[in-house]
Amino acid sequence: MKDSLYHTISYVSTSINLSDRDVNELLTITKLKNEELGITGILMHSEQNFFQIIEGETKTIKNLYKKIEKDIRHFNLIKIFDKPIDIPSFKTFQSSYTVINKEKNYSELQSFLESEKNHNPENFKNISYIANKFMKLY
Ligand SMILES: Cc1cc2nc3c(=O)[nH]c(=O)nc-3n(C[C@H](O)[C@H](O)[C@H](O)COP(=O)(O)O)c2cc1C
Repeated sequence: MKDSLYHTISYVSTSINLSDRDVNELLTITKLKNEELGITGILMHSEQNFFQIIEGETKTIKNLYKKIEKDIRHFNLIKIFDKPIDIPSFKTFQSSYTVINKEKNYSELQSFLESEKNHNPENFKNISYIANKFMKLY
């Protein structure tokens, strides 16, 4: 069987105590790096948790996740999915990697998920559910 070209991984994790500045720095750098590497997805942070989806070329995603899981800024990573995909779902969302820590970005994400759910209903249902719970922590 031919290996799939694209892969996606999603997880939630517990954040160590980070200042707003630390969080913003992490979010900004992540966005820049992912745009450079052609990685799409989302990253959300609430007081003590991260929720992230990364998608892109299989090798790139697997290598990145190895780095992310060793990052001391968070722990207790719980994978939600880790699977090959035909087409990255978030490629058409705001055309880049999106960091969600504002209501505005969140409502845009909700409309995106709503409009995309025909492609992969279960996946989008799960993402919407977690994203929703996540935002309510604010
Ligand atoms: C919650 C969390 C999410 C992260 N997500 C990404 C990411 O999507 N892309 C990325 O390049 N680094 C991400 N990082 C940072 C990596 O863990 C790591 O610091 C970075 O890739 C190091 O890159 P370097 O080895 O090139 O210096 C994340 C870190 C944390 C704590």
